[in-house]
Amino acid sequence: MSDLRYQSGFGSHFESEAVAGALPKGRNSPQKPAFGLYAEQLSGSAFTAPRHENRRSWLYRLRPTADHRPFTRYDGARLFAPGTVAEPLAPNRLRWDPPADLPASTDFVDGVVTMLANRDPADLEGVAVHLYRADKSMIRRLFVNADGELLIIPQSGALRIATELGRLEVAPGSIALIPRGVKFRVEVDGEARGYVAENHGAPFRLPDLGPIGANGLANPRDFETPVAAFEDDDSETEVVQKYLGSLWRTTLDHSPLDVVAWHGNYAPSRYDLSRFNVIGSISFDHPDPSIFTVLTSPSDVPGRANADFVIFPPRWMVAEDTFRPPWFHRNVMSEAMGLIHGAYDAKADGFAPGGLSLHNLMSGHGPDVDSWRKASEAELKPHKIEGTMAFMVETCWPYRPTRFALDRAQPDYDAAWAGFPKAKLP
Ligand SMILES: [Fe+2]
Repeated sequence: MSDLRYQSGFGSHFESEAVAGALPKGRNSPQKPAFGLYAEQLSGSAFTAPRHENRRSWLYRLRPTADHRPFTRYDGARLFAPGTVAEPLAPNRLRWDPPADLPASTDFVDGVVTMLANRDPADLEGVAVHLYRADKSMIRRLFVNADGELLIIPQSGALRIATELGRLEVAPGSIALIPRGVKFRVEVDGEARGYVAENHGAPFRLPDLGPIGANGLANPRDFETPVAAFEDDDSETEVVQKYLGSLWRTTLDHSPLDVVAWHGNYAPSRYDLSRFNVIGSISFDHPDPSIFTVLTSPSDVPGRANADFVIFPPRWMVAEDTFRPPWFHRNVMSEAMGLIHGAYDAKADGFAPGGLSLHNLMSGHGPDVDSWRKASEAELKPHKIEGTMAFMVETCWPYRPTRFALDRAQPDYDAAWAGFPKAKLP
């Protein structure tokens, strides 16, 4: 796979052709595209979205997407988007060990297990958090999500993702972003596990940087988009589609990964999280965790994210007279957190790689007693947090767990905050 080629830039207007002469010049839909290819526009935003938010690509393919038979219900992935619990949700903090009973002997689609979700996909807002486990490659089988874009976060095992617009290789420590409506297949070598954030709202974009300036956090050039790569394969291929919260299937008499050339700014990409330029305090206190935002999906309320993807990477801690771990806080946003590897600096134990935690709106949270004591008494020398990568999918819409998630939550998470000594007044 080392021959994969990528184009750099986030949301750039790329153009790519796998066969010379396949990409029309100077027009999008010529009367007769080269070689009899079909021109098809794939829009990820309204036609009339402002230019800086407008996302679309033109695909030149062997057959049009419209050529398919009716979809019927798909029941091969019973834990994928089953709906969340209907009962009233207690305002409890929740945490999960990596579930031992994720689906076995499955491919990526059947291995997705929904843990948390909010809003109805038809609202075009909200986000869901899934886990996946896959030990089989998808063979003559593709997935496409009409409900939103997928941010895939491998935790163990690399994924090869063949998409309509080209092929991506994504190892743990990197993420893949698959736009809404783009068909793809996931191939694995052995067992792969990880997380998926499914964003029903505005497509993820890089956050504005304000006074930080023109550089920093995730830099656009570090996002890599594949070049065009297609399959000329007339074998029967199953397409599983997530649509309005349910899964559907149809079969085609060919592989729809048949896009010979494309151009536009609506395309999959990957990003190596180690390229994130971490910015923090060099005096005292530390900034709000928004400083760690890799990608944001805005809501209609300025500054209030439909979804933020935030990471806690290796970094130097140098602030003076400062409680350095994440402080105690309550928040109008709702925070789902995962761990790719290493340990998270606010928890001594109980939060394992592949696990998950949920601090919904106004839940009091922060360091546990051990982490609090250590950080309160530490001599504040420059210290580097190393060998860790935690992340958060934060949203303004409170999450609800699925039945699968609620039944597997750690019974004693509240104990993480038990035993704090009372402050002593003079
Ligand atoms: Fe928090």
